[in-house]
Amino acid sequence: MDKVIDFINLSRDRYVDELKGLLAIPSISALPEHAGDVKRCAEWCADEMRRIGLQNVRLIPTPGNPVVYGDWLGAPGAPTILYYGHYDVQPVDPLDLWTTPPFEATIRDGEIYARGAADDKGQVFMHFKAVEAHLKQNGRLPVNMKFMIEGEEEVGSAHLDDFIRAHKTELKADVVVISDTSMFARGVPSMCYGLRGLVYFQIDLRGSSTDMHSGLFGGAVANPAFVLAQMLAQMKDRGGHIKIPGFYDAVLPLSDDERKAWATLPFNERQYKKDFGIPKVFGESDYTTLERIWGRPTFEVNGLLSGFTGDGAKTVLPAVAMAKVSMRLVPDQDPNKIAELFETYVRKIAPKTVDLKVTRMHGGKPWMASYDNVFIQAAGRAIEKGFGKKPVFVREGGSIPVVSTFQEELGLPSVLFGVGLPDENAHAPNEKLDLGNFHNGIIASAMLYQEIADCRL
Ligand code: BES
Ligand code: ZN
Repeated sequence: MDKVIDFINLSRDRYVDELKGLLAIPSISALPEHAGDVKRCAEWCADEMRRIGLQNVRLIPTPGNPVVYGDWLGAPGAPTILYYGHYDVQPVDPLDLWTTPPFEATIRDGEIYARGAADDKGQVFMHFKAVEAHLKQNGRLPVNMKFMIEGEEEVGSAHLDDFIRAHKTELKADVVVISDTSMFARGVPSMCYGLRGLVYFQIDLRGSSTDMHSGLFGGAVANPAFVLAQMLAQMKDRGGHIKIPGFYDAVLPLSDDERKAWATLPFNERQYKKDFGIPKVFGESDYTTLERIWGRPTFEVNGLLSGFTGDGAKTVLPAVAMAKVSMRLVPDQDPNKIAELFETYVRKIAPKTVDLKVTRMHGGKPWMASYDNVFIQAAGRAIEKGFGKKPVFVREGGSIPVVSTFQEELGLPSVLFGVGLPDENAHAPNEKLDLGNFHNGIIASAMLYQEIADCRL
C-alpha cells in the first residue's frame, strides 16, 4: 500500500487540474438545453475510466441519460465492489449569487468552487484516482470493481431501477460503495448508516378559468392562493407535527442507544444557527436538531407560485395556485403508502370551490444499516487511515433512493463513503469541495479497496 499512497501524494496537483476538466462540463440533467453537455460528460467519464485502466468501458443507453459502465475483474476469489455515483449536476440559478462562474472551477482558501464539486463529480473522481493509483503502482486492484455512474440522479433517477433489474448479472457484486454524502463536520470524518426516503408532489389548484379583477369578483369566488395556504397550513402544526392521518404509523422510534450516541457528537446549535443565518431552530419539541434531521420524517413546501409577484401592486384574483411539496421519510415508512395517505388527505381537505390536481413526482425509500456490519466497519478503518481520525457514526437527512434498490434487487449492502461537508453548498450557489478532504478521500478510497479485500466473506 505504501507505493500507492506515495503515488497519490505525489499526484496531488495533477488531480486538481484534471478535476477542473470534469467540473467544466455543465451536465445539468434538469434542463433540456444541456442534453448535449450531459452526453459529453458521460463520454468524458468513459474516456477517463479507460485512461485509468478500467476495462469494458462503455455508455449503456437508458430511455434517459446513459449509464457509464467500466470494470476491472482481475482478482478472482476477491470480493467485488459495485461503485455507484452520478455525473449529472443541479441547475445553477440564481447565477448572480456565484462569486465565480459555476463551470470555471476556482480555488479559494483550499476549496475548489464549481457546480458538482462535492455533489457528486469530485467524489466520483476521487475513486477514479484511487483506482488509477493501484493500477499504476501494482498493475492490479486488491478487489474486483464495477463502476456505474448515472446521469439522472438529480432528477430522481427515473430509469435506474429498470436499468438495475435489466443488468442484474452484469452488476453482480458483494457490496456497493457510494461517495455522495457529507462528513459530520470539518475535521470530523464520519460513516453514514442511514438515509431518509422521499415522496414528492405537485399540487395545482384552479379557482376560475382566468385571472379576474379582485374588486369585481373578490369575496364571491375562492382565491386559489388563499385556499392553497389554508390547505398547506393543515399539513403540519406549529410544533412541526405532521397532521396527515396515519403518517407516523410505521415510524421506527429512535433507540435510546442511538439518541445517546448522537448526543455525544460535537454539534453546536449556536454555531449552526450562525453558520446558516437561522434566527431560531424549529421542529418537534421532543427531539434534538440532529434527531429531527436524521431520525424523524418531515413535510416541506419546496416552492409556491400564484398571482402577481412583480413590482408594484395589481388588484387581481389569481386563477391558479401551485405548490411543490415533499416529505422526507424514515424507516419503516413506505413511500407508496405515504403517497396514498397524502393524496387521500389532500382530496379530503380541498374545498369544492377549487379544481384540484395532485401529481406525484419522484421519491424513494428510507435506508438504514446496522453500523456494525463488516463493510461499514472496514470503511471506518479506511477513513481512519485517510483522515488520521476514527469516524463517528451518523445518519443523514438526504436521500439516495438507489441504495434500497441495490438491497432489494441485488441483495447488496451499501457503504456510504462521503467526504463532502454540510456547508459545501450542494444544490446552492458557490458549491465547493475542500481539497484536503478530496486528497485524503483518495487515500481513504485506495485503503477502502484493500480493507474490503481483507474482509472474509
Ligand atoms: N448527494 C445527495 C444526497 C445526500 C447528500 C444524502 C448529503 C445525504 C447527505 C443527492 O445528490 C441528492 O441530492 N439527492 C436527492 C434525492 C432526490 C432527487 C430523489 C435529495 O436528497 O433531495
Ligand atoms: Zn448527489
